[in-house]
Amino acid sequence: EFDGLENINKWSKNIEGVFMPKKFMEIHKKVDEWKVNENDVWIVSFPKTGTTWTQEMVWLLLNDLNYKAAEKNLIKRSPQLEATAMVRTPYLNVFSPVIPHAIRNSLKYVKNKKSPACIKTHLPLNLLPKELKMGIKKPKIIYISRNPKDTCISYYYFSKLIKEFDGSLNEFCNLFLAGNVNFAPFWNHVLPFWEKRNEPNILFLKYEDLKSDLPAAISKTAKFLNKDLTQEQLGELTNHLSFESMEQNPSVNYEWLVKMSQMFKPDRKDKDNKFMRQGKVGGYKEAMAPTMIERFDNWTEKNTTGTGLTYL
Ligand code: A3P
Repeated sequence: EFDGLENINKWSKNIEGVFMPKKFMEIHKKVDEWKVNENDVWIVSFPKTGTTWTQEMVWLLLNDLNYKAAEKNLIKRSPQLEATAMVRTPYLNVFSPVIPHAIRNSLKYVKNKKSPACIKTHLPLNLLPKELKMGIKKPKIIYISRNPKDTCISYYYFSKLIKEFDGSLNEFCNLFLAGNVNFAPFWNHVLPFWEKRNEPNILFLKYEDLKSDLPAAISKTAKFLNKDLTQEQLGELTNHLSFESMEQNPSVNYEWLVKMSQMFKPDRKDKDNKFMRQGKVGGYKEAMAPTMIERFDNWTEKNTTGTGLTYL
């Protein structure tokens, strides 16, 4: 059964300062020793910061805007390196045979991917392959970041959706701030990449910038990947990447995951019970209590002072 805190402690533990699914222990060494191909592109993010959005953009830019080929599920086109470590909660175990190979056996799947692969990972820098961490190999890395309050709310609804958390938003916020959600602490994730943002192989993006000017964010990313886009192509990709379009797109909207979790334990039919939930900046204002907002703001200030990192 799902019981909030206890459940989280049961499935995750501290691994090198990162709150991780225990199953990561089984692949930790393999990830550490991973042979990095410099032609691949890595998309690195803390969960719920706009990873899927960035993946779809990057994959299309790398694949000549082949919208037909993009009908294949994104989890296969842009696999998550450590996905296999995420298959751990009861319902995921029950359904593991029907969970795609790209997730169940992610290391093998990623290894067999033709280069340039578009690799997703939520691992923070200190858990990434040694060759990346130490700068021995320098593939292009795109880091996507989002303000922690919206990230936390999105993470809360996602954790409920996949039946990994059953408590209140307030309880989840406390876990988030304490670093007791997978891939936390948040600042250990974002700051090392923020510090590297001017390195030539690194592009640091913010969700809020994609929201306020998507064509500009696409153009910047295309330039980083050495791809030229005509105005028409830019317009078409902007439409394809709109929230309204991605929400309806079964190759990116994780409806299979929602269906699977519904089978295990049916939920209220809730407007937040989907992967493409709101896609907004500042949604936290309606969801979070003023005292919690203040706690997040103080925590943010404490961790970002002197770094130059700010969020809308
Ligand atoms: P919300 O839960 O706030 O709606 P990730 O892919 O890292 O898991 O992030 C998921 C979040 O990105 C969700 O946020 C989702 O709605 C949002 N998202 C995905 N595609 C988007 C798009 N095209 N435009 C705006 N937000 C998008």
